[in-house]
Amino acid sequence: MSDLDTTFASVARSMELYHRAEQVIPGATQLISRRPTRYAYGFSPAFAQSASGGTFTDVDGNTYIDWVSGIGAMILGYCDPVVDEAVKRQIDTGTMYSVSHPIELELAELLIDRVPCAEMVRFAKGGGDACAIAIRIARGTTGKDKVLFCGYHGWHDWYLAANLAGSDLDPHLFPGIDPTGVPLALKDTAIPFPYGDVETLEDLLRTNCDDIAAIIMEPLRSEIPPHGYLKRVRELATEFNVVLIFDEVSSGFRPTISGIQPLVNVEPDMAVFAKSISNGYPMGAVVGTRAVMQPASQMFISSTYWSDTLGIRAAITTLKEIERRKTPEVIQDTGRILKQKVAELITKHSVPAVCGGVDWHPYIRFDIGHLTPLVNTLFIQEMAKRSIHMNLSFYINAAHGDEEVSRTIAAIDDVFLIIRNGLDAEVIPELVDTIPQTDSFRRLVT
Ligand SMILES: Cc1ncc(COP(=O)(O)O)c(C=O)c1O
Repeated sequence: MSDLDTTFASVARSMELYHRAEQVIPGATQLISRRPTRYAYGFSPAFAQSASGGTFTDVDGNTYIDWVSGIGAMILGYCDPVVDEAVKRQIDTGTMYSVSHPIELELAELLIDRVPCAEMVRFAKGGGDACAIAIRIARGTTGKDKVLFCGYHGWHDWYLAANLAGSDLDPHLFPGIDPTGVPLALKDTAIPFPYGDVETLEDLLRTNCDDIAAIIMEPLRSEIPPHGYLKRVRELATEFNVVLIFDEVSSGFRPTISGIQPLVNVEPDMAVFAKSISNGYPMGAVVGTRAVMQPASQMFISSTYWSDTLGIRAAITTLKEIERRKTPEVIQDTGRILKQKVAELITKHSVPAVCGGVDWHPYIRFDIGHLTPLVNTLFIQEMAKRSIHMNLSFYINAAHGDEEVSRTIAAIDDVFLIIRNGLDAEVIPELVDTIPQTDSFRRLVT
């Protein structure tokens, strides 16, 4: 333990609430990524009480440096005073109305100004919601049903239908997801393709050429795409007359203030945003070319809270603030420092690991053969004990400063030493005091 902390954080109250939640909330959490089984069960906090900047305080009174940033939603940091003040002012004039509010236009025009492919915009309340709208529009615009996808795109039927044919979601989400509750009639309507593999994508397009409405993909997650890959995907979508949708929910506005498109220099027909668009307020957006989006005026795509002004006000303010504060640069500077310092510790302790990934979302990857899952868990467990909430990557927000970085690096120094000693003494399993972290959904829910 570093001398910065003298006691390990206890999460007794968190676990008590978690067991209560299991009785009244199926699955105990609303988002799978909030389950403590995704971290170090019994060591990681399960319930937060408050948050500020780059930290949150749990129900046991422990304050954590938080590298999960509300699963990516916080880009400026928790309780950002400018965004929160704008939302509070909005509350005082009404949160939603019987008619539309002008700020709907303001946000639509701001996104059209910022995002290269955006000529028209629809709103949503979250990422899965926005993806479902994009797929509906693509199907409606093309008159075709099938969707080729790569990555994670939310919980809706159109996406989970992929697993009606087998285990297609395994490499895109995680193994073991039963499509229970998804109509069998949707079988073979959502077809996965592997990232970076142009040949397979082209084969799928040829085989199903009369039926494909859309290609939806995360243009990147942790690594910069292989040279020319996204450009080739764009060409194929055009050649086969298929709507290309970039799901930018997870990369969001960390790469640039306009999202990923200026960085990769490729324009899809549509793009989907949520999470970091509004710094923690419920919001999502679907943007696209006029040709693809205009037909949506004839489709039934309609919901009361999509006009909620709090998410919209938060999004307008967040987008303006990330430009004013040069947030992508700030976040990427932090990421570069983290990567460099973690790499130094990897060398110092001769830990079989790499610290890589894009600067706005670096990761640590252990490579220790069959011990890797246990070491992953041990890392998360020991970091949690040192009041650092993270899995194996850093979702950086602009409120993470020198203090957060240096305390995190001090903790990683401790934890890498524990791992090194554990490997040398061949006692890693004995050091793991919790359920080994798993990628299997079935394991998560049992
Ligand atoms: C790329 C991507 N698309 C869609 C979603 C779903 O977003 P939400 O959880 O807001 O429904 C996520 C969530 O992590 C995501 O990362």
